[in-house]
Amino acid sequence: MKDDQPSRHVFRTSQLEQADGPGLNPTKTPTMGEIIAARFSRRGFLRGSMASVAISATVSPMAILAAGDAHAQGAVEGSVFDFPEVQAGVDADHHVAEGYDADVLLRWGDKVFADAPEFDPTNQSEAAQERQFGYNNDFVGFIPLEGADDHGLLVVNHEYTNEHLMFPGIVTIEGDEIVVAEATEDRVNIEMAAHGGTVIEIRKVDGKWQPVLDGAMNRRITAKTPMQITGPAAGHARLQTSADPTGTEVLGTINNCAGGVTPWGTYIMAEENFHGYFTGELPADHAEAANYERVGVPGGSYDWGRFHDRFDLSKEPNEPNRFGWVVEVDVNDPESTPKKRTALGRFKHEGAESALAKDGRVVFYLGDDERFDYVYKFVTAGTYNPDDRAANMDLLDEGTLYVARFDEGGNVEWLPLVHGEGPLTAENGFESQADVLIETRRAADLLEATPMDRPEDIQPNPETGRAYVMLTNNTKREEANAANPRVENAFGHIIEISEDGGDLAALTGKWEILVQCGDPSIAEVGATFSTETTANGWFGMPDNCAVDSDGRLWVSTDGNSPSDTGRTDGLWAMDTEGAARGTSRLFYRVPVGAEMCGPCPTPDLTTFFVAVQHPADGGDDWEGFGRPSYYEDLSTRWPDFDDAMPVRPSVVAITKQGGGKIG
Ligand code: FEO
Ligand code: CA
Ligand code: CA
Repeated sequence: MKDDQPSRHVFRTSQLEQADGPGLNPTKTPTMGEIIAARFSRRGFLRGSMASVAISATVSPMAILAAGDAHAQGAVEGSVFDFPEVQAGVDADHHVAEGYDADVLLRWGDKVFADAPEFDPTNQSEAAQERQFGYNNDFVGFIPLEGADDHGLLVVNHEYTNEHLMFPGIVTIEGDEIVVAEATEDRVNIEMAAHGGTVIEIRKVDGKWQPVLDGAMNRRITAKTPMQITGPAAGHARLQTSADPTGTEVLGTINNCAGGVTPWGTYIMAEENFHGYFTGELPADHAEAANYERVGVPGGSYDWGRFHDRFDLSKEPNEPNRFGWVVEVDVNDPESTPKKRTALGRFKHEGAESALAKDGRVVFYLGDDERFDYVYKFVTAGTYNPDDRAANMDLLDEGTLYVARFDEGGNVEWLPLVHGEGPLTAENGFESQADVLIETRRAADLLEATPMDRPEDIQPNPETGRAYVMLTNNTKREEANAANPRVENAFGHIIEISEDGGDLAALTGKWEILVQCGDPSIAEVGATFSTETTANGWFGMPDNCAVDSDGRLWVSTDGNSPSDTGRTDGLWAMDTEGAARGTSRLFYRVPVGAEMCGPCPTPDLTTFFVAVQHPADGGDDWEGFGRPSYYEDLSTRWPDFDDAMPVRPSVVAITKQGGGKIG
């Protein structure tokens, strides 16, 4: 999801993203109203005139002068990457490094089943959408079938819907604002079917990936799919509703941002900005008022509550407690009931990437994507059994959730969120572990965890015992700390955690900042990319990431734009070791208005799957368009470029021409 959008008001999207709303952590009181455009806008600085631009202390003038030339085609000394860099910029198409192919594999509306109806954007229905690929692909995971690298299941989250780009005839332009017509019941039901996830078999044929539409495990998961609530909060009174007096059965999952694939081959969907789907008012003096305020419920971004009582707080006051969890899907059985695993806590879950600790327990790294919220990890109580898949299927119901405190001296401490320990007692309103998990944020506040600059995806590297934390931005920060060293942090940073003993389950470790993002040629930005990083190689707003099977870090971004950074979002390769550490190179970039999600390398590194999310959601600040973008007047019609087709979020498969390892 985008954040810190300028003033243009798109009815749905900007509300859901809390574009300029307050952070929700009451332990901080952010008041800075300035957004990127005010201080760091490219418009505010001289471009292309190096002599007049102060040079950041970490970037040599020579490096900047060489940017885009010397290193664009060659390897950087000590780098683990040697692809020819893509030129950063903005246009209607996507671009991949020379020598590579970027093929669209699955578009919104494509068939997921052989008998699915053809996509007709002017006549979409809930029934059709339930059989077709959903909207706004975010997390992408690849689960090999029988160990093959050219055949497997692709699992894809569909985070949210952009009505103004999806539906004909619902937008009016008022001034430079996009105003979306009030929802109808049909529209809401299509939106609900376009949310959730897709499981689809794919196979490489003659070097090109294609979906297998009669795959036995193909599946659509939507905002209505029946799910089970498991773990310590399951069945708790605070999770009970009139439709589900047991507090264990819930319909659907929403706003699934990043996710993960477990070592035992299940698909993890993280519920992020769930607050936006709720409307209505809680009954007066309701016991959940403070809980909901801490997570921003009701967000009021969607009209679902008008047609589905469960999204209306006045009718179903407990329903929001049934969202904000991590969902696990057994992809081997398309009839299986997805499980909301409450042991991993309830907050705005960005993702849930996991790896094995030295003793075989499984460690999940979890970001809570809100300004001034926290970094978590979950360590299972049991150990992974590589020989018995069934024995792993409920590992996520027992274990310990920890929250991170990053001290000024470069140490990180993982604080357990365990009922009865420290302040997590009845005195503070926690009667049980269920209460601790339902109000994870408040529990973490009391433990004095470190409020961060919007924790997004976190990727562990089991080989090194390190983890990479994407902190996307926080323009509301007024007080810096060592782990969040910039006030008005418009461009974000990446923290590298090195767990003690190289063991991901360790409760202490060291941390350091791998890079502060933004344009290194503007001193005020304070970016710290290596001097080898070219003018194409730097980025702002890190969001998703991957550590590939060679241990190489890849970072995808959300929020670069013509006015903020003079470039679209994309996928950057980032050196983490040796002399090249902190060097970044642009490998792939998205069309105007899009953000870059995924990325997902196959184990053999011959394919990268990437997700192009919300293309054409923007373009008013791009000289090639310069006006509001919506269904009838789109800033790009990628990937079809067909006047009869709207823009379509899509998953793209990147391969090297002639085959071979990427990067
Ligand atoms: Fe959905 Fe935190 O990005
Ligand atoms: Ca995002
Ligand atoms: Ca994200």
